[in-house]
Amino acid sequence: MAMIALKCPDIQVVVVDIAMPRINAWNSDTLPIFEPGLDEVVKACRGKNLFFSTDVERHVAEAEIVFVSVNTPTKTSGLGAGKAADLTYWESAARMIADVSKSDKIVVEKSTVPVKTAEAIEKILNHNCNGVNFQILSNPEFLAEGTAIEDLMKPDRVLIGGRETPEGQKAIEALKDVYAHWVPTDCIITMNLWSAELSKLAANAILAQRISSVNAMSALCEATGADVTEVAYAVGKDSRIGSCFLNASVGFGGSCFQKDILNLVYICECNGLTEVANYWKQVVQINDYQKSRFVKRVVSSMFNTVSGKKVAILGFAFKKDTGDTREAAAIDVCHGLIGDKAQLSIYDPQVTEAQILRDLAMDKFDWDHPQHLQKPLNPVDTTKLVSVVVDAYEATKGAHGVCILTEWDEFKKLDYKRIYEGMQKPAFIFDGRNVIDVAELRKIGFIVYSVGKPLDPWVKDLPAAPPS
Ligand SMILES: NC(=O)c1ccc[n+]([C@@H]2O[C@H](COP(=O)([O-])OP(=O)(O)OC[C@H]3O[C@@H](n4cnc5c(N)ncnc54)[C@H](O)[C@@H]3O)[C@@H](O)[C@H]2O)c1
Repeated sequence: MAMIALKCPDIQVVVVDIAMPRINAWNSDTLPIFEPGLDEVVKACRGKNLFFSTDVERHVAEAEIVFVSVNTPTKTSGLGAGKAADLTYWESAARMIADVSKSDKIVVEKSTVPVKTAEAIEKILNHNCNGVNFQILSNPEFLAEGTAIEDLMKPDRVLIGGRETPEGQKAIEALKDVYAHWVPTDCIITMNLWSAELSKLAANAILAQRISSVNAMSALCEATGADVTEVAYAVGKDSRIGSCFLNASVGFGGSCFQKDILNLVYICECNGLTEVANYWKQVVQINDYQKSRFVKRVVSSMFNTVSGKKVAILGFAFKKDTGDTREAAAIDVCHGLIGDKAQLSIYDPQVTEAQILRDLAMDKFDWDHPQHLQKPLNPVDTTKLVSVVVDAYEATKGAHGVCILTEWDEFKKLDYKRIYEGMQKPAFIFDGRNVIDVAELRKIGFIVYSVGKPLDPWVKDLPAAPPS
């Protein structure tokens, strides 16, 4: 919305949210999320044609176009729990729009939703419309956190789905006009509603599948002495494949990939497509396997136990250049190490101590619900085993091992000689993001494990994983 405000000075944009603390933060000097370049965009328009407010009903009533970008988490209970999208927030937003509207509106699905959600939303709106006309459009968002501003500035494509009626086509044109302020028209693709809804789920599933494919290959590289970086480079040079999303790692995270694949799996199952559902389920299973494989490597390397040992965790965000920790691989890895009673010392340049402790105490899937709907926090007192520190050197001081779980640029430039000197010996480093120079670190004296890379003799002689 900030980008629309920046590029369309003739359009007044009001961002409304029921969460007062979030709106207060959007109106303050410290925005509620860290995203490179976002501060500048917001500050250039705020108070001119970009406003943030909790007066949801008033601004919705006044709007001609309403973008709905509420959360669509995975259901935690009831039918489809653990897979289906929870559309509670969407439904209540739709009911509120119907209640307060006195003039015709275009309602845009910005959230990622299951295919056919627009049909349900249309029914809610049209059964409560009081003579007002609603047109539903699907306009899924393809930005990636960490590069959101760049992605919005020059999107690969903007997708708009709508009804194939004259009114539907008119609504599509109105939304197209908004984006045409800065996006070349040949990048604005229009299609039917169901194709647009499914395209977003399909894109996320295929992106995640590439990561799981290269991660699966990383296990085989470790077993055979191949180097996953070399293999991925060779594979990516094929112009039919391309080089993006082929970096092996400890696993993908973020609020969307797992949620959207599980949602896709559920839709397949509901349509009787068991084989298709199982195919996509495997993408998530390989991701979970990659995280537990990493934990097993750490534990087996360090004499089959990390109990009472200090382990430094470098990086907690799900990827670099974001403070977002939703579904971060670090959460599962830390849980695995805490399960073996390791003493964790965690450092991330953008994630607060409160956020890390909350994430480690929270049930899976609960993070995407408002706080008042979250289950009570896990009674396991993680605070005795976890400390959060403000720099990498403090985290690693006196540690037996270091795990790199986010690919922050600063981790490439650390003084590893200094880190080695401050650590217990033998000093272990487990690079879950392939950011360090393995040969250089081995020269310093570290025992190094880097996902999918030829194994250190120390690690090689151990069984691939201790019995679970
Ligand atoms: N985060 C991303 O990078 C990204 C990218 C593409 C798509 N999406 C999709 O966008 C949607 C939102 O994602 P997010 O990361 O911004 O989630 P989020 O949980 O950070 O934000 C959702 C916001 O909606 C507000 N909300 C809920 N119900 C409301 C209501 N009835 N009225 C007003 N506000 C309400 C919540 O208070 C919350 O602030 C999801 O469907 C997600 O899959 C997210």
